[in-house]
Amino acid sequence: MELVGVAEIALLLGVTKQAVANWRNRKGGFPSPAANLKAGPVWTLESIQKWAEAEGYEIQLGAAADGAAAAAPAKQAVVMAVMNMKGGVGKSTVASNFGWYAAYLKNLKVLLVDLDPQFNLSQYILGAEGYEQLIEKGLPTVDAMFQPSQGQPPVQVNKLIRKVKNWEDGSCLHLIPASLDLAWTMRLALERSHVLRDQLDDVRSDYDLIIIDCAPTESILSTATYHAADWILVPVKPEFLATIGMPLLLKSLQEFKRTYPNEDAPEVAGILFNDVSDRVEHTRSRQRVRKEAAELKLHVFKAELNHSDSYPTGARRGQPIFMTDNARTERKNELTRVGNEILERVGL
Ligand SMILES: Nc1ncnc2c1ncn2[C@@H]1O[C@H](COP(=O)(O)OP(=O)(O)OP(=O)(O)O)[C@@H](O)[C@H]1O
Ligand SMILES: [Mg+2]
Repeated sequence: MELVGVAEIALLLGVTKQAVANWRNRKGGFPSPAANLKAGPVWTLESIQKWAEAEGYEIQLGAAADGAAAAAPAKQAVVMAVMNMKGGVGKSTVASNFGWYAAYLKNLKVLLVDLDPQFNLSQYILGAEGYEQLIEKGLPTVDAMFQPSQGQPPVQVNKLIRKVKNWEDGSCLHLIPASLDLAWTMRLALERSHVLRDQLDDVRSDYDLIIIDCAPTESILSTATYHAADWILVPVKPEFLATIGMPLLLKSLQEFKRTYPNEDAPEVAGILFNDVSDRVEHTRSRQRVRKEAAELKLHVFKAELNHSDSYPTGARRGQPIFMTDNARTERKNELTRVGNEILERVGL
């Protein structure tokens, strides 16, 4: 029995992995995987052939095996933005821990992009001291992408990337940090909102996954994110008024689609509950969010992240929860469950 994964299906059908992920999510009849391995879902070649035939897609048999990979477009990273128009819900915590999980535990090449002038993600990854050193050294930060060149050649994205970790198997955790200077970009004209996508395009084939951590406000930076991202992950903290960020986010995404009708807008991957506890008001709030999500036709991830003091502790030291000394095993395991579910949803 011949088995194929998402990457092989993309090759066989001459499309991107993103397209296969979209089919899985949107096309009701897409075959169910024969198995879900640690490396990702696999299908029988036969089931894919049948589906492709029924849908009228031409299958290039042998493409995956006979070296057509070389002729196929270079592998492109999946770009996922972490957004919620409500502040303090765990966007930066999720971005850093999910990034660590994907790089360290799933051996992916991961680039994190801090797109918040408050630079929390940069601190969560470099640790408070590491971030201070970066600023003291005067190393460039993400705002350099957006500044008009003023006669200077535009800054190369590679100069902005800090290689935080490189492992022997080729996996890595890299970061484009932010600083308060990014606040100035908010005054820039919307015409420059495409630069993030253009600059990330230059390195998209170097990574498997690019994660953009966003500020909780609507600005040129959210437009820039919509231009650049394939997916949006929405962490939600089950608390009073937990639902207010969701319609705002969808409104802003709709506005983007109206303004740029010819662009591929990102899709909401789903809502991820974070900082959950078994308090009664959390349970009630979760029910309200689920109801609202159903009305807005948004996916809600099954796995959730509970409250753990190891998140802030790890963040201060630049560590993910699974590397902190005191985190309970169950809390570490739930990051694995959340990470697996998100990666599967985006076809990685
Ligand atoms: N699961 C959790 N358990 C305990 N503390 C958490 C958890 N998730 C986040 N926190 C803490 O909550 C605070 C806010 O988290 P974080 O900075 O990730 O939110 P944010 O949505 O990025 O905020 P902002 O909107 O300001 O960017 C931080 O102090 C963080 O350590
Ligand atoms: Mg944040």
